[in-house]
Amino acid sequence: MERITLLEIYKHPITQKYVKRSGLAHAISTAYYAFDYAIQLNVNPDLAAKAALLHDIGHYTWYKDGKWDYRLYKENDIHPIKGAERAHKLLIRLGEKPVFAKKIALAILFHTDSYLPEGELHLDPLQKAVALADKADEEPGGTHHYKTISESNAYEKLRLLDDKIEKFLTYERTGKSQPAS
Ligand SMILES: [Fe+2]
Ligand SMILES: [Fe+2]
Repeated sequence: MERITLLEIYKHPITQKYVKRSGLAHAISTAYYAFDYAIQLNVNPDLAAKAALLHDIGHYTWYKDGKWDYRLYKENDIHPIKGAERAHKLLIRLGEKPVFAKKIALAILFHTDSYLPEGELHLDPLQKAVALADKADEEPGGTHHYKTISESNAYEKLRLLDDKIEKFLTYERTGKSQPAS
């Protein structure tokens, strides 16, 4: 079965609409971090990168006077729940294996605990890779959501990341080519 690529996910109108809402640059750089963490934690970098690209797809626009309103957001936000569902639906539509779509959706559901009751979550390594990647790209005051990236740069970065993932998966499967660095 053919791998569903990051570029296919990126081009879909659902991704275009919702990922851009919370910041395409943040989504892409989180996907790069997630690739690295996945290798470190010995989990599938394809699933980690996909979950990271889509991790904030559930955001609603808590804007007031053109700025993100943190009070409104804190009070009302359930973006990991909405995002997990939205990403799952999108991935299934694109033809992702259901077992992969579930793992990706769960990594999105647990990428932050900011909306959950107090307590310790025991994340599995894939969920950990995505949560760490999101943290790695976080900036004080939430400015990571405002970072910008051009269409062509976004496309090129995702193409390169798809390439890194495919090289890695081929290496794992066959032991033939060098893994992506
Ligand atoms: Fe988030
Ligand atoms: Fe995020």
